[in-house]
Amino acid sequence: MSNKVVRDKNWWKESIIYQIYPWSFKDSNGDGIGDLQGIISKLDYIKSLGIDMVWLNPIYKSPNDDNGYDISDYYDIMREMGTMEDFDTLVKELHDRKIRLMMDIIVNHTSDEHPWFADARQSRENPYYSYYHWWPAEKGKPPRRYSHFDPAGNAWSYNKATDSYYLHYFSEKMPDLSWENPDVRKAIYDIMRFWFNKGIDGFRMDAICYISKDTTWPEVEEIVKEKYRSDWSAYYAHGPHLHEYLQEMHRETLDRPDVTTLAEASGITKDEALLFVKEDRKELHMLYHFEGVQLGFAKEGYKRLEPGGLNLPEMKQLYTDWNNVFAEGGWGTIYLGTHDQPRMVTRWGNDEEQYREISAKLLITFLLTMRATPIFYYGDELGMTNIRFEKIEDYKDIETINMYKYVKSQGGDTERFLKDAQITGRDNGRTPFQWDESPNAGFTTGKPWLKINDNYKFINAAAQDRDERSILRYFRQLVLLRKHKPVLTYGAYELLDPDHPQVYTYTRTLDEEKLLIVLNFSKEEVLYKLPFVLDIDTEPLVNNMLSFRLENNEITLSPYQALIFGPLPTELQPLRDEAQALVEEQPSGKMKEKNSSLESNELAI
Ligand code: NOJ
Ligand code: CA
Repeated sequence: MSNKVVRDKNWWKESIIYQIYPWSFKDSNGDGIGDLQGIISKLDYIKSLGIDMVWLNPIYKSPNDDNGYDISDYYDIMREMGTMEDFDTLVKELHDRKIRLMMDIIVNHTSDEHPWFADARQSRENPYYSYYHWWPAEKGKPPRRYSHFDPAGNAWSYNKATDSYYLHYFSEKMPDLSWENPDVRKAIYDIMRFWFNKGIDGFRMDAICYISKDTTWPEVEEIVKEKYRSDWSAYYAHGPHLHEYLQEMHRETLDRPDVTTLAEASGITKDEALLFVKEDRKELHMLYHFEGVQLGFAKEGYKRLEPGGLNLPEMKQLYTDWNNVFAEGGWGTIYLGTHDQPRMVTRWGNDEEQYREISAKLLITFLLTMRATPIFYYGDELGMTNIRFEKIEDYKDIETINMYKYVKSQGGDTERFLKDAQITGRDNGRTPFQWDESPNAGFTTGKPWLKINDNYKFINAAAQDRDERSILRYFRQLVLLRKHKPVLTYGAYELLDPDHPQVYTYTRTLDEEKLLIVLNFSKEEVLYKLPFVLDIDTEPLVNNMLSFRLENNEITLSPYQALIFGPLPTELQPLRDEAQALVEEQPSGKMKEKNSSLESNELAI
């Protein structure tokens, strides 16, 4: 690892982030919707996870077309979530427990019920008209722009009073702000400072790469097809003044060591990531890309997965390439689930009963041993799974509902759409947290706003708290391990066996310490040749199973087995092919098979 990275140590690189979707964490007043008092009542649980920072999805005043991503007042709290007093209590109580708070902020668009837009849409002369993007109807139809949430896929909606079309990259209730207007930028910086002054520690910045637009409004459909392979997000993320605005935002609001930012970077590639987060650029601190979570998407259909499952060599290469982006500067993040993604164990592990626990532990091991700030989504620590709704009426998510309408209006295959949504639909990740075995999983005494997964009877926090070998206990121990071993945060990462189709192996090295991580991402037992010669008595430092079998430098890896070995001497070099052949010629060593487990064979920390 280069000295540079050591010199640039800081708290947000060392943090583990836990994302809370407030709608679904804990309801305190029986209306079926999670709220701030609910979160406050569960702070000791959150503390028990060992995480450092909570990312809270939006709680500002909102008509909730998109569950708070449509803000109607940036200075007030959504009625469903509670009051400003509750918010202040939450900040204080989190800080008392040494947990930081990262708020979600949405500045690409507002709600159409925000007073700015309510005014803007009255007349072209209204001072707020220029807060948004418009296409005057006398110029004919606007050039095509795609909307992520519009049932017709059209990002322009007609407004009668002004005889013009307004732009909305998301739903028609979410008009895009015009960052080209300096008054808009100033108003946003005021908002950010207001929340920093309330004591928050950072912002997760929604759709931030979309803020700058080419306001000459060229026809771009062909360019999008060719240059961006029909990915409108990528086109939207390449506005002409984006970095200028981010640098201004930094100067105005972020030039202080006690805050951090996390950019939602859909449409951003490896080549460009450092433009956002390299220290000397003075823009943002961290970003999260979408290339990982979009692996395996088919070209046809909407968020449809290719048949055939995970292509592990491709995944390994992708995460390795992203690691390398930040080798000399900037800093990465790693995640497998958010409120926009399905449950990680369903999508990246295996939620069949016999594999669910073990594969959830494997994914936790992966996230906590990579060189990037890990982001967990509430419920990951329990191995919560996709709910797999059967009918469109069960969904509450605007994306799924409007895409369904779109597919239907095109005469498309709605059955197939529903099948795909069972795997990738966002509501899978939004079902209420499963606290205990009591009715409604202990989430609410009322009717939950979104159905609760029936499997709460056996997948819940209370049961896992009691069970020494649960996913929850494993999660807490691995979090501790990461906190106590700087090599897991700052150590250099090296991928081994890149082409192995089932096993993901890498090392982390810092100063005198080297760890070897071996993850069997498949549901098959794999006889795996180790890339290092390990002593026959070697015990794994971490094992997500009880069994461990090493013979002739080969491990019999059970399905989804995850192992961490170390500390190994740093000078140890991975075996290349010739050396491997020599090992194979040796007479067979003694066979070793014994029980080991994370609990017994410690985490000497
Ligand atoms: C990204 C957010 O994560 C997502 O939930 C939301 O729907 C869109 N941005 C629009 O704000
Ligand atoms: Ca409530």
